[in-house]
Amino acid sequence: MRTLAIETSCDDTSLAIVNYEDWFFDIEKILLHSQIAEHTKFGWVIPELASRLHEAKVIDLVDKLWLEEIKKVDFISYTCCPGLPWSLLVGRTLANTLSLFLNKELTPVHHINWHILSILCDENIKNIQFPFVALTVSGWHNNLYIVEQDILSPDLKSINKSGLDTLATYIEELQNNYSLDQDDLITKVWNLKFTKIWFTLDDAAGEVFDKVSRMLGGPYPGGKWIWDKAKLWKKMNFDFPRIWLKKKEFNFSFSWLKASANYKIQEIKKEIWEELDEQTICSIAYEFEQAVVETLWKKLLKSAKHFWIKNIALVGGVSANEELKTFITNHKEKFWINNFYTPKKPLYSTDNAAMIWVAGIIENLKDF
Ligand code: KG4
Ligand code: ZN
Repeated sequence: MRTLAIETSCDDTSLAIVNYEDWFFDIEKILLHSQIAEHTKFGWVIPELASRLHEAKVIDLVDKLWLEEIKKVDFISYTCCPGLPWSLLVGRTLANTLSLFLNKELTPVHHINWHILSILCDENIKNIQFPFVALTVSGWHNNLYIVEQDILSPDLKSINKSGLDTLATYIEELQNNYSLDQDDLITKVWNLKFTKIWFTLDDAAGEVFDKVSRMLGGPYPGGKWIWDKAKLWKKMNFDFPRIWLKKKEFNFSFSWLKASANYKIQEIKKEIWEELDEQTICSIAYEFEQAVVETLWKKLLKSAKHFWIKNIALVGGVSANEELKTFITNHKEKFWINNFYTPKKPLYSTDNAAMIWVAGIIENLKDF
């Protein structure tokens, strides 16, 4: 099953042609044009500019993929929401036009759900164990989800709970016990259910990375820049708050951390009467990053333990942060976590069309 996927929800214009065969999600071609260079001078994404840049770039990308290749796909998927309205409209218009002229089915895809499914890029679905708790963390969203297979029959539900290990075993059990045919099985297996359990009450973690980067004189987006600066830190005893870590509170809040970083920077500037030196910038970047990372990994692992779920996933732009992944990997056993899933490449962490097709394919398999 092949699909063309289109992503234009924010500041990346991305098209991908991909193939699904034998349980494996294989990316054949992916094109990505980042608008960062155009937005960085404003320090934030300018919505009107974003939609104009998408419009200027999409046809270019269609040309690069070749119409001949696009003609061979089985259906077209595109990001329908959430995102910048006019930017989404560019992707939707392209998808509708191609669908009309090439006579292809259309599948609209939810941006956050496909961030979660980015763990399937270049992956065999049989290696993924359900249910899992997913932390989606990027420039806009900072949520915790439970992702499970929505099995409608109560009997099948009890089989799922009894702790079947992998999807492969699960399918075997279903086949043996219920003599379901292949089509029936696939319908059930692909009925994924996403339940949002907790979220941020103010800023997302990526957003505070970007804002603190700006306070320190760094670029937009600032996550990677802060991470690079943090590697060069020297101990200077800055102490930033970890919000709601001690309380039994699973929601997130980052605005006080952002304000603390701002106060600290202003305080130092007043003392020295000039711009921050490199060592101070690196140390603030490090202490700030530690505060975000500790909040994220602890809340993810604690919430999995709270529900007795033994599998977790970390997705979205901030999942490109190696420090965060290392903390989760080093602490997961203490929280009885068996599997930790995260996108295989940094490219799959941030916005791109590869995930759209995974979600698009799964949507289509549901009605297979
Ligand atoms: O998922 P994404 O590409 O776009 C949104 O849906 O927002 O995420 C972008 C966010 C930005 O805030 C960026 O600063 C952050 O991901 N980010 C990082 C890293 N790479 C990107 N944050 C921390 N460490 C990184 N290495
Ligand atoms: Zn995103």
